[in-house]
Amino acid sequence: MRLEPLHPDSFVGHGDRGPDDDSAVAPPIYQSAPFRASSDEAFAAMSSSARHDRYYTRDGNPTFSRVERLIAGLEGAEAALLTASGMGAISATVLTLVSAGDHVIAQKTHYMGTSQLLGTFLPRFGVSVTLVDQTDSAAFAAAVRPDTRLILLESPANPLLTLTDFAAIADLARRHHILTLCDSTIATPINQRPLASGIDLELRIAGRRGPGSGHRAGTHPAFRGFGARDRFDGGSGSCTCGGGRATGMIVWRSLERREPCTSRS
Ligand SMILES: Cc1ncc(COP(=O)(O)O)c(C=O)c1O
Repeated sequence: MRLEPLHPDSFVGHGDRGPDDDSAVAPPIYQSAPFRASSDEAFAAMSSSARHDRYYTRDGNPTFSRVERLIAGLEGAEAALLTASGMGAISATVLTLVSAGDHVIAQKTHYMGTSQLLGTFLPRFGVSVTLVDQTDSAAFAAAVRPDTRLILLESPANPLLTLTDFAAIADLARRHHILTLCDSTIATPINQRPLASGIDLELRIAGRRGPGSGHRAGTHPAFRGFGARDRFDGGSGSCTCGGGRATGMIVWRSLERREPCTSRS
């Protein structure tokens, strides 16, 4: 069933349905880390499939799957991944996408934790970083190098609320075969959808203005295009950040209450 054309208010009520759902209206919280299988063969198949949601909770969990389906639909993404914290999502995503010897372009204004990742941790692992004024799209173009693999955006940026021209940066990145990732925390998926402007991956902190407001729980890189999903499914996306057991339920509950459908913070 294709649900994306539904109004977001209707979509949050129905978009979490999946082929293997039980009939519970409110998703049960699956507490288990590991899951049983009906046979050795079934277990082998689970263990070798990408992010199976009944194998090991760090890779996935039926509660998370329901929320991830909702979030992917709201964001217009191929898929989404629920994690336990914002910095967990950002660091796991960046570590998934870059290797020693690569170059990253990012902004002069980022959330403090992201600035630390860019300024302290990435250089320690042999990844070089150039910070540019995000309001100047030409500065991104001037910073591109042959080894640039990722452009990391945050808009509106915390704390200065400075803005990035997503379409201009997405166009630049595509011409140079560079991945783009945007932290879209300060806006909601109703009033800002970077993937629609050509950005490859985006994430939002669920404890801010999007789903999960009021709780520090769950965040979600959402992917579209450029093989980003394959790289997460390949395993590295799950290296650090599976959501806590109740994370899925907390975010699902706030979606059901339509919190992301308003522009209030
Ligand atoms: C824009 C932005 N990105 C990332 C984070 C980090 O999120 P968390 O505290 O869940 O690690 C924050 C936290 O305030 C934020 O405002």
